[in-house]
Amino acid sequence: MEGGNYQSPRPSRGSPRTKQAPAVRVLETLAPSPESLEVISALAAAIEEAAPIQAKHRAGLRGDIRALWEELTSERESRSVDYLGTPPALSAYLRYFLPWNVFRLSSIFSNADFCLPDKAIVVDIGSGPLTLPIALYASRPELRDVPLTFYCLDRVERVLEAGQAVFESLCMRTEGRLPPWRIVLRKDGFGSPLPERAHLVAAANVFNEFFWKDKNPLGERALDTGRTLLSYLRENGSLFVMEPGDPRSGAFMTALRAAVASEGALPLGPCPHAMSCPMPGIYRHLLPPEETRVIKGDPNAAPSRYVLPPVVMPKKRDKMPWCHFGVDTDKAPAWLLALSVEAGLPKERAVFSYLWAARGAMARPFAGMPDPLHSSEKERRARVGKGILVRVISEPFALPDSSSGQYACSSLGYTLLKRPRDASPFEPGDLLEVTASPLLRNDEKSGAIILPT
Ligand SMILES: C[S@@+](CC[C@H](N)C(=O)[O-])C[C@H]1O[C@@H](n2cnc3c(N)ncnc32)[C@H](O)[C@@H]1O
Repeated sequence: MEGGNYQSPRPSRGSPRTKQAPAVRVLETLAPSPESLEVISALAAAIEEAAPIQAKHRAGLRGDIRALWEELTSERESRSVDYLGTPPALSAYLRYFLPWNVFRLSSIFSNADFCLPDKAIVVDIGSGPLTLPIALYASRPELRDVPLTFYCLDRVERVLEAGQAVFESLCMRTEGRLPPWRIVLRKDGFGSPLPERAHLVAAANVFNEFFWKDKNPLGERALDTGRTLLSYLRENGSLFVMEPGDPRSGAFMTALRAAVASEGALPLGPCPHAMSCPMPGIYRHLLPPEETRVIKGDPNAAPSRYVLPPVVMPKKRDKMPWCHFGVDTDKAPAWLLALSVEAGLPKERAVFSYLWAARGAMARPFAGMPDPLHSSEKERRARVGKGILVRVISEPFALPDSSSGQYACSSLGYTLLKRPRDASPFEPGDLLEVTASPLLRNDEKSGAIILPT
């Protein structure tokens, strides 16, 4: 990547967790750091200062939150473009959705192994009230001293301006100063040009707003979306997308993952491998298989350069699993939990799907792990004896033989982690390095590869 000093990633990987068996190391977890939780706690006061609620709207806040939640979670294809432009909706977004989205993003950013060079350029698509810059500020304190430029792009100017006021108030409360960040607000739509390309292109909770309006096949639309996203990115840069935790968004994420991979940006997270996705929901393929064959035969004609290699998939069923995570909310600020209850939206887990991908120099393999792309399934199975990366997806559940299971993802594909019932379970989202016997078998019920831990 061009110029500048890299901020070293947090030493989040490699610390053994003593309660686990020696063959398992927890390398990464999905949870907001204590520092980020402190900043999220201060959001209530920052929002009150930057965008005080009018007395006539205070009594209706709970109802406004509920109404906006219904609007945002409905699968309606048409939502008013300016749905955040009215004072009650904006106030509801700032007080409920902004803090929960900062919580979700912080649980990813706090532990993710990513870095930004000095003077890095970040593009945030559908920035809303600057949720993503606020989450980076909260969860990566080392970036508070680094000059960065953020292009915050949104169709609605008022929400961007409100977000900037909240951000500044929050920074003053946290450190008594603003970070050396240049924040450029752009009232514009996805796809509109920007003056420079970014080291990091990000988008949170935005594609579910318009992706499904188009009736073309899912794979084709994912290719269009992926190409537009990558048009904002430098040759050596990374891409981050988070969407709400619903099955449709989960399938979108798998389709987008395949699309950006076909354009040279390989997945880094949550995926512990760059093979095809074993939890694709309703997603099947980027292009119809017959077209993919033609493309493979003639790379020059290829809209698709690279098709991800297959892995073990779940047993055939009506609804394939879709990749998503739920983070415990017990450490969220008390005011946010209370407001959620008041609005009739109590939250035990903050759920989402996400994707990191990178191309060029940023697309580094996981430290110490051989490139899974260029190995056969037999070689990948043999690798298990030396340690493979596994991302835990589900909560624990009881297995018939009185052991405990958790679904997970690995370079082998759909994976079932099996452990003694009395062993402490992993958290959904944990990234593990598992060293087990390479003599593996498949679970009859789910089709998953059984990995003893
Ligand atoms: C649910 S909000 C998400 C805001 C913020 N990223 C977050 O995570 O809290 C979606 C935002 O995307 C914006 N948006 C929707 N479609 C857009 C488009 N085509 N181009 C730019 N912004 C868009 C909306 O105005 C809104 O502010």
